[in-house]
Amino acid sequence: MKNLRRLNCLISRILLPVRRSEPRYCSSVTNSVTATNNFKTRLSSGPRFQDFTGEVTGDSDKHCYLSAELEMGNSRKVYFETYGCQMNVNDTEIAWSILQRKGYQRTANVNEADVILLVTCSIREKAEQTIWNRLQQIKAMKKKRLKSPIKIGILGCMAERLKTELLEREKLVDILAGPDAYRDLPRLLTVADGDHQACNVLLSLEETYADIMPVHRASYGHSAFVSIMRGCDNMCSYCIVPFTRGRERSRPISSILEEIRMLSDQGVKEVTLLGQNVNSYRDTSEEQFCDSGLTKLSRGFKTVYRTKQGGMRFSDLLDSVSCIDPNMRIRFMSPHPKDFPDEVLHLIAERSNICKHIHLPAQSGSSQILTRMRRGYTRETYLDLVDTVKKIIPDVSLSSDFISGFCGETEDDHQQTLSLIKEVGYNVGFLFAYSMRKKTHAYHRLQDDVPVEVKQRRLQECIIVFREEALRVNSALINSTQLVLVEGESKRSAKDLCGRTDGNLKVIFPKEDVALPAESTSAPINAGDYILVKILSSSSQSLRGRAISHSSLRGTVK
Ligand code: 5AD
Ligand code: SF4
Repeated sequence: MKNLRRLNCLISRILLPVRRSEPRYCSSVTNSVTATNNFKTRLSSGPRFQDFTGEVTGDSDKHCYLSAELEMGNSRKVYFETYGCQMNVNDTEIAWSILQRKGYQRTANVNEADVILLVTCSIREKAEQTIWNRLQQIKAMKKKRLKSPIKIGILGCMAERLKTELLEREKLVDILAGPDAYRDLPRLLTVADGDHQACNVLLSLEETYADIMPVHRASYGHSAFVSIMRGCDNMCSYCIVPFTRGRERSRPISSILEEIRMLSDQGVKEVTLLGQNVNSYRDTSEEQFCDSGLTKLSRGFKTVYRTKQGGMRFSDLLDSVSCIDPNMRIRFMSPHPKDFPDEVLHLIAERSNICKHIHLPAQSGSSQILTRMRRGYTRETYLDLVDTVKKIIPDVSLSSDFISGFCGETEDDHQQTLSLIKEVGYNVGFLFAYSMRKKTHAYHRLQDDVPVEVKQRRLQECIIVFREEALRVNSALINSTQLVLVEGESKRSAKDLCGRTDGNLKVIFPKEDVALPAESTSAPINAGDYILVKILSSSSQSLRGRAISHSSLRGTVK
């Protein structure tokens, strides 16, 4: 692995930077003697071979041919803009942590920024279009700032997917850093200072940023995200993620536990474990692709890769994490239905601080489409899993993702999706129209043959059924008492507070003092408090209620 890392490092340095103003070909042949002499002088004063290899191993933050001083931020102000999923939110904090160590400052005001970094998403065409539009606005801003030029960087999935195409199309972009290249940001920015475009989009088999503690931001209040694994090996036929985020790898358990202990000490009350395939977490790295079709898992689920053996699994991690602080809620996002062995479900059922909310992305209700999506399960296996989940965790709340209009989807397939949504009864859903992505299996092998207006109509029908079902499921909670973790004031009215149930449903209730546990006195409610709230009404998206008393997440953590 060390050698591989060295090689990656060597390649990135040899390939980069690309000088903008200079042609990339050799100049003239007529002056060849002078040119040779110049070249010799430059060679003797330039970096040695060892500079590219030897000293890099100990500390991957060190770049031997750029001195440490050159990489310092010197209080320059960085402005981040984050798009896409929660992983990107967490990656922003990782990138910031790396730059902060080098003396950069962070600003929330784009107008005073010296460096603007967009953390991007490629999952659908629309997500990328948003970034292109934003780049046009930033371009105008950059043109006006002549005295202290702004440096612009594209980070994350779009940098990885489009690579140098982005630099060539958008001449004003100075740096590109793929999801595994954030450690290289100080160097890339230093190169950009010399009027070079710089890019590192190498994917890694091992980068988990395990040693980089993301900076927990006060704006997230009492909730924090902790990345536990990166990448995805599933290769669902519609999905760009395995190409932009690379192979699956898990962060060592010890560094995860250390980060969560630190967050608990800081008063964080809710931690969401993050990963593209969070529940296939395994603290080992021995896995290979299986060429001979799908590998069978329990409950009839299958996968295209050979499953990993040994090591600490997701259930072991969840067990240890839930023991750190009995008053801290634990959630996880985003899991795959194939990795829910009974022990994970039983653990969720028995630990009072592991939330009884499970995201089970179905994507479609038709077995024919699921096969084409290469999801590794059928409608029946998915519904069997839902039954098992509901049996083991009776008060579970479920959410899901669905894609409308995937390649070859017929009206009958669509009806099956609507019927699955009704049959399961989710509280929350994330519904999307299919967007064909280059590089994916579907792009190479299938036809994007559902017309745009049909995709949109089917999507709308899914949304309507989802809302009806969510309303039904949520109204069953009326008159129940829910333990709510308070997030703060409601956005709509300063007289109301807003928080979330264990099932991750939003609850709005009037701000008023309520009784402290086992005491007759009342106390005001603050963000981060656990409050018992009686539910009085519901909609498809939230609940309304009245606070009864202060409380805590007590219970038996065995
Ligand atoms: N088109 C539309 N939706 C997609 N998703 C992933 N790839 C695509 C695509 N090409 C959806 C899936 C996934 C969620 C994160 O985004 O539903 O679960
Ligand atoms: Fe995409 Fe499937 Fe990986 Fe999710 S699990 S990111 S849908 S390939």
